[in-house]
Amino acid sequence: MPLLGVNVDHVASLRQARRGKEPDPVLAARLCEASGCHSIVAHLREDRRHIQDRDIGRLRECVRTKFNLEMALNPQIIAMAARLKPDQVTIVPERRQEITTEGGLDVIKNQGKIRRALEIFSDKKILVSLFVAPEPRQLKAAGALGVHMIELHTGQYAQASTASRRRKELKKLREATHLALNLGMIVNAGHGLDYQNTAALARIAGITELNIGHAIIARAVFVGLKTAVQEMLHLAQHS
Ligand code: PXP
Repeated sequence: MPLLGVNVDHVASLRQARRGKEPDPVLAARLCEASGCHSIVAHLREDRRHIQDRDIGRLRECVRTKFNLEMALNPQIIAMAARLKPDQVTIVPERRQEITTEGGLDVIKNQGKIRRALEIFSDKKILVSLFVAPEPRQLKAAGALGVHMIELHTGQYAQASTASRRRKELKKLREATHLALNLGMIVNAGHGLDYQNTAALARIAGITELNIGHAIIARAVFVGLKTAVQEMLHLAQHS
């Protein structure tokens, strides 16, 4: 039964469309928690397209479950996180032109930077997760760096356009979960998950947490945030 982390970035996207104060991602985070989610996720992007610096400080103060801050391997943002001390950081790749995070972190290419970030965050007792594609090479590289937690990128699975491709991607995710568990890592998963594709993923044994944003915030427009979170919780935990 995976836990559910709700990503509130897109509440901030809507606010930034008018550069105003509403809707407030911190209020959304509190509502998601009151609706039963197990953690709150926010991504402070280098271009600050949705979540802003002040949101991070307020989320740190207000989140009562677990605050998981997503970030690139950016020295300024790493320093900010080390000061602010979220419960967890998730390191993701970031490209300016992308609409959302495309692909997993290249753990092999970024070994040095990841090692330095791990040192900084372990000094501050902040949990570190790496967002990686379900590829054995990347998982083994994460294991070799002594990483305790990974989040498998489910984007390819979410985008699979035929039943056979979906099955193939699901198999990859199942095998990657198995390998990462054998390497001693906690396994989370996320990206592109929605009300149609979450149940099959939630049935993979050994996944600790699913992190879901866009689908929940999009559904909340029609049914309200409480119902949107509760419906997703049900899919994550009763599939
Ligand atoms: N997990 C990670 C590491 C992400 O970068 C994102 C997107 O910010 C998500 C989960 C959530 O993805 P989505 O908004 O597609 O549910």
